Amino acid sequence: PRIAVVFGGRSSEHAISCITAANVLQVIDRDKYDVVPVGITTSGHWVLESGDPEHLSITDGKLPEVDVTAMPVVFSGDRELVVHEPGEVPNTLGEVDVVFPLLHGPWGEDGTIQGLLEMSDIRYVGSGVLASAVGMDKHYMKVVFAAAGLEVTPYVVIRERDWSRDPESCRAAVDKLGYPVFVKPARGGSSLGISKVNSLDELDDAVAEARAHDPKVLVEAAAKHPREIEVGVLGGLDGASPTASVCGEIAVSGGGHEFYDFETKYLPEGDEFAELSIPADLPEAIAAEIRAQALTAFDAIEAEGLARVDFFLDEDQRVIINEINTMPGFTPKSMFPQVWAASGVDYKELVDRLLALALT
Ligand code: DAL
Ligand code: MG
Repeated sequence: PRIAVVFGGRSSEHAISCITAANVLQVIDRDKYDVVPVGITTSGHWVLESGDPEHLSITDGKLPEVDVTAMPVVFSGDRELVVHEPGEVPNTLGEVDVVFPLLHGPWGEDGTIQGLLEMSDIRYVGSGVLASAVGMDKHYMKVVFAAAGLEVTPYVVIRERDWSRDPESCRAAVDKLGYPVFVKPARGGSSLGISKVNSLDELDDAVAEARAHDPKVLVEAAAKHPREIEVGVLGGLDGASPTASVCGEIAVSGGGHEFYDFETKYLPEGDEFAELSIPADLPEAIAAEIRAQALTAFDAIEAEGLARVDFFLDEDQRVIINEINTMPGFTPKSMFPQVWAASGVDYKELVDRLLALALT
């Protein structure tokens, strides 16, 4: 079968998607699959990329980007990928059997490309339109999680019109949550645009920062001395139920990092401040509870294929769901491939399983 691996994209997580793709492209079984690397530039143009892992990695501290000079490519009808050099006759690359949308953030992880692929009748890896859209929106995912009986942190939504018309009421609502709070773009990822706010006078700057990513902002109360636990979920083959990986834990400290931010997640200089423990050192009953809740969350949004579900475990041992990610990072530092490796599914097998799921 022929796979189009699609990466990059218009969101602020463009670079992370490139790093994810660099790694996935290296493990796809080329005896089994014919691979077409398709990049989406930061301005939204689709190109036939080289997929060269070196150019898709962090080099000399510079984040990678899709090659804007590569040849334009489009999906025609009939699931065909067509390269179209300006002034030349379109040249078909043939039919694509499955798309691996390795895109993070808006215009990729949020149901938009999934809708495009549905309309073109092309199979793809991962969640469909609804699950992707709900999983992208930190507000709506909480609404759905709460309805499924999962505990979420108290929160306040600040919409564009609330903030421009009546910021005083927004500030008052946030004040009621108690500090610290986390201020987040509702539809963001990789911790970009997120701030921890310790008092009301820090709020406006944090809202401005979040609004640079999304006009809708979410303010969440912080759990009490939380431990951060993450679980991977994989869809089952042949109609089998999804399964949950072991729990992984992230501990962030030092270097002025107050949470698992972009630097500690991805940059080499953040390494010494974030420690991953896999499997997490947890009482068996709590680990089982968290894994069960991860499966509940997966089904609550009707996710398919894969997801990473993130939790807080507070000082009273309460399990609180933070969020679900329908296209989690696959970089070598990312939690998702590591929790699966610790659960007996190595990176290569994981990618193979996701493609097999999409093709059945
Ligand atoms: N949004 C990033 C890629 C993650 O969830 O891993
Ligand atoms: Mg997320």
